[in-house]
Amino acid sequence: MSNILEMKQVSKSFPGVKALQKVDFSLEKGEVHCLIGANGAGKSTLMKILAGVYTKDEGEILLEGKSVAIKTPSDSKELGISTIYQELSLVEELTLAENIYLGNYLNPNGGFIKWKQLNEEAKKIFSLLGLSIAPSLQTSSASMGLKQMTEIAKAIASDCKIIVMDEPSTALSGDEVEKLYEVIRLLKGKGYTIVYISHKLEELYAVGDRVTVLRNGEWVITDRLENISQPELIQHITGRKIEKKEKVHHTTHREEFLDVKNFSNKKIHDVSFSVKKGEIVGLYGLVGSGRTELLRAIFGADPIDSGEIYIDGSKKNISSPQKAVDHGMGLVPENRKTEGAILDLSISENAFLPSLRAYSNRSFVKRKQMKAVMQEMIEKLNIKTSSKEVPMRNLSGGNQQKVIISKWLIHQSRLLLFDEPTQGIDIGAKDEIYTIMKELSEDGKSILMATSEIEELLAVCDRVLIMFNGRLIKEFSTPANYKSEIMNIAVSG
Ligand SMILES: Nc1ncnc2c1ncn2[C@@H]1O[C@H](COP(=O)(O)OP(=O)(O)OP(=O)(O)O)[C@@H](O)[C@H]1O
Ligand SMILES: [Mg+2]
Repeated sequence: MSNILEMKQVSKSFPGVKALQKVDFSLEKGEVHCLIGANGAGKSTLMKILAGVYTKDEGEILLEGKSVAIKTPSDSKELGISTIYQELSLVEELTLAENIYLGNYLNPNGGFIKWKQLNEEAKKIFSLLGLSIAPSLQTSSASMGLKQMTEIAKAIASDCKIIVMDEPSTALSGDEVEKLYEVIRLLKGKGYTIVYISHKLEELYAVGDRVTVLRNGEWVITDRLENISQPELIQHITGRKIEKKEKVHHTTHREEFLDVKNFSNKKIHDVSFSVKKGEIVGLYGLVGSGRTELLRAIFGADPIDSGEIYIDGSKKNISSPQKAVDHGMGLVPENRKTEGAILDLSISENAFLPSLRAYSNRSFVKRKQMKAVMQEMIEKLNIKTSSKEVPMRNLSGGNQQKVIISKWLIHQSRLLLFDEPTQGIDIGAKDEIYTIMKELSEDGKSILMATSEIEELLAVCDRVLIMFNGRLIKEFSTPANYKSEIMNIAVSG
């Protein structure tokens, strides 16, 4: 097969970071090529060079055998390369069709936008993808899956040959991921070449033809997926073997830390449960079952219509996240870019945000102590950064997530509310985070964690609550024994 694209000996540095060092990467026409590597390995950077977002320091890019210069995003677009980023870039106020043709409106010479034609063309593309979606729908009311499909439709409308998908599945539900696979296979059948980035190995094996592994900015291996087993792949990613750790036994929990009674609002209905000190409780359910809404209501981020909350046995009025933090809670939200992080502030500023009072003495900030604590977090969570003063914006996606987790560790929160805590986290660091969760619990801290990953749920939780349509419908206290029951009940109620 012929290579449609070749990147040869590509290097890129940022101040203090060699993000890519002489990386080779090639695409065969019509293949799905997976790109994998730990957080900060350089995957997004390599693809941003292809997209004209960053310019390479050295190396060469060949398209269909000819050397090309990609200096700007429009160069990339003209060459037929389209990128769907880790964070989607649709304009919420526009319709799906308008987004598809944004910057690319039909009839550019006529001056008038032909709305009817716009919707018809968009509809054609959706049906090409096997989807029956109304293109006139406002984007803000579309599900994540639909937005993802719209991004793909947008790529197709721009007449591209190569589509890069940077962690497309992170915010999708199980069904939506299946649909994404279908669309990818269909595109492949039509001769599109696809780059697929993900931390989830089973996804690579489901859609990929070949895989390239990057580690610390360097190329490690490229091979057909059928030639590499999962353990081998993990070893290439991490540079070491990962041993399955046995679940540690928790001390028996006695006192309750959190007690939620009859919580209701628009999204959740009459939810009651408690979390004991030192307990890790999982919240499982479909996307839309109310997990995120429950966590947000407990944290005071969304109002409740009725219900009561008790902390350490006494009733509290948690009407804002600030109050929740004052009562010892911390939330790692699902959507880190918009809720969890302030991108212009440094890593250290983000990490100490809730703890500034504890680290200052009147107007003196305890800098030395903060520095040491931050260093400890960087090591413990394996945060890849050249310094703690780097703006959050410059961190790779997974490393941003780690900083958000560190924020609540520093704050010594007594109850951690985790919403998909390992979203975008690489396979090596996941285990580190599970270990940290277990340590916290042994230390008497409580965790309430929403996750869509059944393996994660079974690996760390003492007890699992299942949500369906905004209600708690069932509880399992030895979840590891009930895997299939948990999955079935979550789906069918
Ligand atoms: N604009 C930037 N300024 C400074 N450093 C950057 C910038 N963009 C990326 N980096 C650094 O380059 C390295 C590679 O980052 P990149 O985003 O490519 O990683 P990644 O493999 O996509 O990781 P993840 O799985 O977490 O998304 C990281 O150390 C990151 O901090
Ligand atoms: Mg990335």
